[in-house]
Amino acid sequence: MTARKHSYKRVGVLGLGFVGLPLSLLLYKKGFQVTGIDIDENKLKALRAGDSYISEVCPIQLKEAFLSGKYEVSDSMDVLKRQDIIIVCVPTPLNENNLPDLSYLKSAGEAISQQLKSGHLIILESSTFPGTTRDIFLRILEQSGKKVGRDFHLAYSPERIDPGNEKFKVEEIPKIVSGVTPSCLTLVFEVYNNVYDSVVKVNSPEVAEITKLLENCYRYINISFINEFAMLCDKLNIDIWEVIKAASTKPYGFQPFFPGPGIGGHCIPVDPLYLKYKALQAGAPHQFIDLSQSINDSIPVYIAGQLEKIFSKPFQQLSVLIYGVTYKPDVKDIRGSSAIQVIEQLVKKGVDVKFHDPFVDEIVLESNVSMKGVKITDELLGSVDCVLILTDHTVIPVDKIIKHSKNVYDTRNVTRGLNGKAEVYRLGGGFDVV
Ligand SMILES: NC(=O)c1ccc[n+]([C@@H]2O[C@H](COP(=O)([O-])OP(=O)(O)OC[C@H]3O[C@@H](n4cnc5c(N)ncnc54)[C@H](O)[C@@H]3O)[C@@H](O)[C@H]2O)c1
Repeated sequence: MTARKHSYKRVGVLGLGFVGLPLSLLLYKKGFQVTGIDIDENKLKALRAGDSYISEVCPIQLKEAFLSGKYEVSDSMDVLKRQDIIIVCVPTPLNENNLPDLSYLKSAGEAISQQLKSGHLIILESSTFPGTTRDIFLRILEQSGKKVGRDFHLAYSPERIDPGNEKFKVEEIPKIVSGVTPSCLTLVFEVYNNVYDSVVKVNSPEVAEITKLLENCYRYINISFINEFAMLCDKLNIDIWEVIKAASTKPYGFQPFFPGPGIGGHCIPVDPLYLKYKALQAGAPHQFIDLSQSINDSIPVYIAGQLEKIFSKPFQQLSVLIYGVTYKPDVKDIRGSSAIQVIEQLVKKGVDVKFHDPFVDEIVLESNVSMKGVKITDELLGSVDCVLILTDHTVIPVDKIIKHSKNVYDTRNVTRGLNGKAEVYRLGGGFDVV
């Protein structure tokens, strides 16, 4: 089948999570008739009621889309047949052995395979290891008896959305596209050229798949490196935050990364292990990933250890209020959050832990014990031994925290330059507690 100017009007987005929901609304905004499909009935119920479970998606925008008659959601795979384009944004997590779990991706492929019709353009967006699109997803689609490039098209285009980042709208992030055949590439390029400000063609799905992994491994390794550097600076009594500020004045060759309680989310801690899986299969080296993983795992333990050193009383007599449990600022996402790992550490040691997060009401710990968030009051701040700042949400009442707390351990450098009653300690702040 030769590539032609596309006349696609109907798009189905499979998986309405952090990636699929904003993408579905962007496609609606760009003039497509959109059907969002998800297996989670609660999400669909919330969306139909105009409630957004993602901070960047505003309920007004959602209601407007539904009212237009050009946006709908469904839990039925039957609607796939009516679409011209199907975009797959399902999760690609790790299983209990830290290996890629492609079960969502495979079941999405099977559902599409049963509804595949001539002319369909399928775009896979989930992050995964190189070879998934061609060796796994395509094989499932071709179980339909239809042939790629002849009967349908298959593209891979990694999603690069950065939840919570208001600097870049989804359409402003350059979109990498690839196709299993040249005509697949031409079609996905044409479609996305009308959606995104900039579209970057690459030569194969494998290049597109590993590009996404390179981007996320780069962050994984550098964040782990700066956290190890922070531990070093603590020992040397040097303020890492001042060091990073000074190094950032170099106009080339240096990009700042900042310390914190560790890596979290659905991407950065997961994607490197997808790459490691592929590296192991290929007998290739992957030492950076292993090293970063072990540094990352050690940070929550290190933070708990710092608290133990600061307060000369037993952990069982210590009370700590955590500010922020999401893995990064201004999002509702607690998946893989290191902040929760820090809480786990403290709870295990018998510390009386409470938390406050403007985006999260409740968390569930490994032991299945749930913990409800508390309100920050002047009395609470004054009553706990320490306020531990783990996430730097924009709305953090840092003045109030400094003013009323006895002690603050700040892992995000948000207390810099502020004075109050509290004694302030910083991760990598040059304070070597012995
Ligand atoms: N969250 C991010 O910041 C981000 C950024 C870039 C890429 N990604 C990648 O995008 C993919 C999706 O991530 P996410 O964060 O949106 O996940 P998510 O868990 O927020 O959303 C995925 C949705 O897919 C639904 N789903 C699962 N199986 C389905 C099926 N067979 N049919 C229909 N719906 C199904 C789930 O119910 C869920 O609502 C992952 O591969 C992830 O690595 C995520």
